[in-house]
Amino acid sequence: MLCDYEASSSADHNFTMAVAILNLFIFLFQILTFLSHPAPLARAQLFSIINEGGGIDASKTPVYIVHVDKPRSRGRGANRSLSFQNLKNWYLSFLPNATLASGEPRMVYTYREVITGFAARLSSDEAEAMESLDGFIAAYPEKEYYASTTYTPTFLTLKGNPSNTLWQDSSKGAGQIIGVIDTGIDNNHPSFNDKGMPPPPSKWNGKCYWGNKRTCNNKLIGAAAFRHSVVNPNPYDNDGHGTHVASTAAGNFVDKANVIGQAQGTASGMAPRAHLAIYKALFVGPNGHSAGTDADILAAIEQAIRDNVDILQMSLGLSNVELFKNPVAIGSFASIKKGIFPCAAIANEGASASKLANDAPWILTVGASTVDRRITASVLLGNGSELAGESANQPSNFPSTQQPLSFPFHELGTVGSLGCHLSEIKKLNLQGKIVLCFPMDIDDDERGDNVKKSGGTAMILVNGWRSGGTTSAFAHVLPASHLNFTSSNLLDEYYTKTKKPTAAIKFHGTQFGMNSAPAVAVFSSRGPSLTNGGIIKPDVIAPGVNILAAWPKPVGPTGSHFNFLSGTSMATPHVSGVVALLRNKYPSWSPAAIKSAIMTTAYILDRQGNPITDEYEGDAATVFERGAGHINPEAAANPGIIYELHDYDYVHYLCGYYKSNSRVKMIIKAPVDCAKVKAIAPEQLNYPSFGVSIGGNTPEVTVTRKVTNVGDAGSIYKVVVKEPEGVRVEVSPAMLKFSQLGEEMSYEVKFSFKGGLPKPVAGEVKDGQLSWDSGKYYVSSPIAVTFI
Ligand SMILES: *[C@@H]1O[C@H](CO)[C@@H](O)[C@H](O)[C@H]1NC(C)=O
Ligand SMILES: *[C@@H]1O[C@H](CO)[C@@H](O)[C@H](O)[C@H]1NC(C)=O
Ligand SMILES: *[C@@H]1O[C@H](CO)[C@@H](O)[C@H](O)[C@H]1NC(C)=O
Ligand SMILES: *[C@@H]1O[C@H](CO)[C@@H](O)[C@H](O)[C@H]1NC(C)=O
Repeated sequence: MLCDYEASSSADHNFTMAVAILNLFIFLFQILTFLSHPAPLARAQLFSIINEGGGIDASKTPVYIVHVDKPRSRGRGANRSLSFQNLKNWYLSFLPNATLASGEPRMVYTYREVITGFAARLSSDEAEAMESLDGFIAAYPEKEYYASTTYTPTFLTLKGNPSNTLWQDSSKGAGQIIGVIDTGIDNNHPSFNDKGMPPPPSKWNGKCYWGNKRTCNNKLIGAAAFRHSVVNPNPYDNDGHGTHVASTAAGNFVDKANVIGQAQGTASGMAPRAHLAIYKALFVGPNGHSAGTDADILAAIEQAIRDNVDILQMSLGLSNVELFKNPVAIGSFASIKKGIFPCAAIANEGASASKLANDAPWILTVGASTVDRRITASVLLGNGSELAGESANQPSNFPSTQQPLSFPFHELGTVGSLGCHLSEIKKLNLQGKIVLCFPMDIDDDERGDNVKKSGGTAMILVNGWRSGGTTSAFAHVLPASHLNFTSSNLLDEYYTKTKKPTAAIKFHGTQFGMNSAPAVAVFSSRGPSLTNGGIIKPDVIAPGVNILAAWPKPVGPTGSHFNFLSGTSMATPHVSGVVALLRNKYPSWSPAAIKSAIMTTAYILDRQGNPITDEYEGDAATVFERGAGHINPEAAANPGIIYELHDYDYVHYLCGYYKSNSRVKMIIKAPVDCAKVKAIAPEQLNYPSFGVSIGGNTPEVTVTRKVTNVGDAGSIYKVVVKEPEGVRVEVSPAMLKFSQLGEEMSYEVKFSFKGGLPKPVAGEVKDGQLSWDSGKYYVSSPIAVTFI
């Protein structure tokens, strides 16, 4: 059995533990888009109206994010005219003085849109001293957050099917502005050409800060960078993540896009006519991973809101952060108040439950799934068996003869040999051999180089059980194949059983129509959320495995301008692009209405008509893995009925969940007295899904929902319920008769135990679905019942 790290038979417990921990990270390092490309930061002119710090570096004084009340009409900070200058003066009044001993200004960012508050350099004593000041709410030190196609428009049926009209109806997103909070952009990439692009709409308020050169155009209408610890940060993308994400959302058409000849076709984003505004808040760190602090991320979102973007695209985050301290949650709340749609990735923490990010109910939270395309590179074992894997690098001159295999981990048994670290594998004679490595802890370029330097001719990446069925079509530096867990196990069995194990690698190129797609990628984070009161997350899944999109550096021997990447980071911009299309079709709809349309029309069966599976264990995906299901843009354009939510609904939810004025204020940026507002339990929020808990003192739960008719004036909907196992679901009324557009109707759903069956075990979760069927529209919501 390969890599059965949980087996407790091992005497060497410490080693087993170390390996188990390392194995947790297998995907994080190989698949998850943090590619290291250290490059010097170019100089640019000071760009930002809100970077008060002037980019002075070297301060060791920590930066705190400070939330305060709005200045009152009487007493401290009193001023009726709330000009930005007055707001700044009010913020300054919380600081001991304006400068540090070094002469640096303390104030780093003064926020207006995202929070009432600021970021400032303070010692912990100074931060504590502020607590006694009237108007102070909370202060905490800044924290780091991480960066979490030719084919996907066709897979999503936007392209290539004459009966589908969303691209036409929405003018391909023309006029919409997608604000991308990420690692910046390669402004010279062909995907950001502005052929056929209209000029930005007049409401656009943003600028393009590229130092002396203005290199924006009608596609790329704005670019700015936010890093208070760096002098004059530049929005250029020296990682690649932001360029990839931006082109997936709204890249223009580029003919003959490919990765080293694979997946050849015309590349474009989901909304090829939408504008892009880039807010760089993530920078490549010393460890090669891109990250940014909450102070900088809040500043980036602040600027995007001031610039009047339409959509916030955020493939970044940190799991299990309370909403009131989470810059993505806080910034997104400010955005929805302005009608700006927030889309964010759920994170790539893999199959362990409840390690997820960006779980606020006002965010559309996106998980990752596969598409039915594989870039197949098979491993032909010496005994005749063929195991299908993936890799983009498929050189035609690679010999198809059998070559000796080496599995360094089997020879050396060291942790470093698992991922093929050079210091380990150079101890072996790998000349002329195909080398087996785990895709973990170093990036695949380095791993491939190590194998090459040690004399290996090719590399086979083997999955441990935690990596399940998900494989990557990475553009490796040498011929390679990445095998799923089942195949890796067979290969391991063959290797252990055979005296002189051999294999050949056989390339099959790009294949379509592969079975069991879409499936939830093993790395996609799963619910239940521990920080939102039980609202089901993810909301939806979207393509996020081996996504071809723009890349700043030449890829592979032929220097492609495109690269395959996998991650929930890649899934999210698919949804952001679709939101741009829907906003053009329905300009007056609120973010909640558009989100409802996307969720209630998502599908839960794969292309073979079977329930969408989870690539972790290959079984049917649960609601906490797939959310409402896989996005279906054409159906989302005609949702029939929607679940509307207003700002104050979320305030009722927040008061019900936190029962704390200060926590709620940190999010909503306005005075609130929870004792006086109608606090509601999280499951009562008018959300297009149902996450409830029953058992113990709560044998039944009744929730209310209100739906709005946006389909046909006269329409009748009948309820269709798939009850979770052991749970009775009663819906009243069971029929909704609408006579006009815009009409609202409420219904109640009672969840209770079914009699006659043994009661389920506490902690167990059962899935179901509640749908409204008019014959023309089918409006579905997932149900998750947790037994307590
Ligand atoms: C109130 O605002 C006015 C106009 O901006 C300014 O002149 C005055 O100094 C402010 N007062 C305080 C107490 O900040
Ligand atoms: C501000 O306060 C710090 C210590 O709290 C002190 O070192 C610094 O000199 C002060 N700056 C001014 C301008 O007074
Ligand atoms: C693993 O890959 C093999 C091809 O070698 C395929 O037949 C099998 O279905 C895959 N298993 C899973 C769980 O994805
Ligand atoms: C090759 O070896 C593997 C692993 O032991 C085994 O599952 C497979 O059946 C073998 N193939 C043939 C053709 O014997």
